[in-house]
Amino acid sequence: MSKPKVLITRRWPEAVEKAMAAIFDVTLNIDDEPMSRAALQQALRNYDAVCPCVTDSMPEDLFAVDDCKTRIIGNYGVGFNHIAVDAAKAKGLVVTNTPDVLTDATADLAMTLMLMLARRAGEGERQLRAGKWHGWYPTHLMGTQVTGKTLGIVGMGRIGQAMAEKAHFGFGMRILYHNRKPIPPAESRRLQAEYCAELTWLMSKSDFVAIHCPSSPLTRHMINEKTLGYMRPDAFLINTSRGDVVEEQALIKFLEKGLIAGAGLDVYEQEPRVPEALLKLENAVLLPHLGSATEEIRVAMGMRVLGNLNAFFNGEPPPDQL
Ligand code: 8YV
Repeated sequence: MSKPKVLITRRWPEAVEKAMAAIFDVTLNIDDEPMSRAALQQALRNYDAVCPCVTDSMPEDLFAVDDCKTRIIGNYGVGFNHIAVDAAKAKGLVVTNTPDVLTDATADLAMTLMLMLARRAGEGERQLRAGKWHGWYPTHLMGTQVTGKTLGIVGMGRIGQAMAEKAHFGFGMRILYHNRKPIPPAESRRLQAEYCAELTWLMSKSDFVAIHCPSSPLTRHMINEKTLGYMRPDAFLINTSRGDVVEEQALIKFLEKGLIAGAGLDVYEQEPRVPEALLKLENAVLLPHLGSATEEIRVAMGMRVLGNLNAFFNGEPPPDQL
C-alpha cells in the first residue's frame, strides 16, 4: 500500500521531519515561507494529511473545495483558532492538535515575561547595549518584587495551572484564577488557588494578571477598556495565549497613560505586525511568539502530530482529535 501523502506547511526540527518522512510520503515547504491561501487550498486537493501551524489561516471558505483529498488536519500547536474546525469537520475531516507537550514551555515563557516586567530587564538590557549604563546607584532601574505578590490567572487550563504551580511553589505567590468553572478542590487546595467568578474582581486584586485562555468568540477582547479599568496602576498584564483576547488599542492607551504599570506580550492581534505605539513603550516587554520555542518541545510537538496521523491512518482514533 502506498504511504499517505503528507504536507508539512513550515519547517520543523530536523529530527521530527525525518521521523515523519520515515512513515509518510512527506512534502516539506523548503523555503519555509508562510503558505498562501491558494497553496493551502491546493494542498487540500493533493494531500491525505495537511500539517499546518499558527501562520496558516484556514477559514471556513478554504474548505469549500469540491475535490478535497485531505482527510486529516494535524495541527502543529495546541491553539487552533486559525482553523475553522467546524467547517473542516462538516467536510468530513478530522482535526487534531498538540496539547500537553508545550504546557511547561509556555508557562515558563509567561514566567519569563513576568520577571522581565517586574525587574525592568528589557529596559536594562536596552540601556546597557546603548552604552548608557554609567554605573551602579541605589535608585537605578528599581523594579518591583515578584516573590510573595498576587498572580491572577485568566484561564486555568493546563498552561494556567502550570503557571500557578511555578509561581506559587517557586515564588511564594498567592494565586487567584478566573475560569469557566473551578478546578477540582484538591488541586485548588494544593495550589492554594482562589476561584474568582468575576474577572473584574481578579483584575482589581492582582499584582500580575496572566492570560492563559484560548482564543474564541467568547474570549475575543475579553481584556478591554472596561476590564483593564479594574487593574491597579501598579499592576502588570502578561499574555502568552492569543493576541485577540486583548484589545490591543485599549491596552496601548492604558500603558501610555500609566493606568497600568506594564505589559509582557508574546502574542499580538495581527501577527507579525506589532503596533508602532507598542514598540515605543518602555513599560512593554515584547517577544515574537516564543511560547513553545524550545528544541525539545518543537520536536515533541512534531512527534505528537506524527502520533495523531499514525493512529488515524491505522484506522484508530487519533489521541488529540478535536
Ligand atoms: C506554537 C502556540 O508555537 O501551540 C500554540 O498554540 O501558540 C505556539 O506555542 C504555534 O501555535 C505553532 O503553530
